[in-house]
Amino acid sequence: MFDVDKVRADFPILKRKIHGHDLVYLDSGATSQKPESVIKAMDDYYRNTNANIHRGVYELSVESTRLVDEARKKVADFIGARTEEVIFTRNASESLNLVMYSWGRDNIKKEDAVLISKLEHHSNLVPWQELCRETGAELRIIDVDGEGKLVMRTQELKNSRTQDEVLTENGLKVRLGGFEGLIADGKVKLFAVTGASNVLGTIPDLAGMLTAIKRKAQNATVVVDASQMVPHMKVDVKTLGADFIAFSGHKMLGPTGTGVLWGKKEVLSKMRPFLFGGDMIGEVIITGATWADLPSRFEAGTPDIAGIIGLGAAVDYLEGLGMDNVRHHEKDLMVYALKKMVELQDEELVTVYGPKDVEERGGALAFNVIGVHPHDAAQILDNFGIAVRSGQHCAAPLVTGFGVPAMVRATFYVYNTKKEIDYLVDKIREIPKIFT
Ligand SMILES: Cc1ncc(COP(=O)(O)O)c(C=O)c1O
Repeated sequence: MFDVDKVRADFPILKRKIHGHDLVYLDSGATSQKPESVIKAMDDYYRNTNANIHRGVYELSVESTRLVDEARKKVADFIGARTEEVIFTRNASESLNLVMYSWGRDNIKKEDAVLISKLEHHSNLVPWQELCRETGAELRIIDVDGEGKLVMRTQELKNSRTQDEVLTENGLKVRLGGFEGLIADGKVKLFAVTGASNVLGTIPDLAGMLTAIKRKAQNATVVVDASQMVPHMKVDVKTLGADFIAFSGHKMLGPTGTGVLWGKKEVLSKMRPFLFGGDMIGEVIITGATWADLPSRFEAGTPDIAGIIGLGAAVDYLEGLGMDNVRHHEKDLMVYALKKMVELQDEELVTVYGPKDVEERGGALAFNVIGVHPHDAAQILDNFGIAVRSGQHCAAPLVTGFGVPAMVRATFYVYNTKKEIDYLVDKIREIPKIFT
């Protein structure tokens, strides 16, 4: 059974006071807190094992290598992958850039289209803008409706626009519209989409879209930005239908400096390396080199060994909780939080963004306090010990598309409680009073 009090006891930072109040950490969407077991795994490594991997026959190096191999196996099992398909990176952004540089530059041509959505974090938007600018391919973007759900047909948009919007700037051609229209001509060669929005929480219907896209463009390659997915729900790459998924270790209780790219072996093994140097080579002569097998080919240089070991411990921790329990706990919090926020909305205190149905959303809750700048709101909440984020959440086109410069965002995770949501709501009620 999921016992949130027991979970909380595993996170030392939750004992901290902020401005004299108990810390209420509602920014796990940016980075999660770390349990004792993760901190200890890294501490043990530095105290007892520290040595570089793959480089020594001495005991410490062999042990280090074994610990990294074990961590890779844990991550692979966690997402249903083969170990050689798990590439360690620094973060999800690097994972997505790896796909862009190594796969994108060799496979996307002028006549192709790259499809993304308006929900994307900049990390799954800017690399594709740059690739399309370089190659001349068209960037197609699935629009969102008023609830922040992906629009399937442009005609469904409840504004004056009934046709796709076409924008051209600095050699980049962008088409914004409904999913079905954007895939109709079969030109989409790459579909890069989020598994869950980091701002609105929206969980797109991946299964439906991937089936449709494979029907229209059989060879389309699919990248899922799983940064807000893998930490929060069970993901099995065997059934997901993607060719690549990218996620960050630091959002799933692991340390910063860790990220993962999973790619299908058949796709990865045809790709050129992204970074060159130590550890990623097969043979080197003075005039050239051959590349190592997977996964080393994509892991040049000394990795974040302690971080990777910490990530392995984070996976153990999440496995211990059970990902279905994690999702259930977050849904429970979201149902509760949405109910409370609707009350605030009825009192004309806040505007809440994102899908109304919790089945269609993850643990991100974006809102604004009416008449108060989001930064001011977040600052006031901080005075009460509440850590929320304000701004554009690295998704500027999405946020500004709602006609606001920024939003406040609370994100929930395994250690959050309904009591904390009550506290947040109480303190939101106090914000307008400060300005009158
Ligand atoms: C959906 C999504 N994609 C990508 C990223 C980028 O992650 P990182 O900063 O670890 O590269 C984030 C981080 O907030 C995110 O939420």
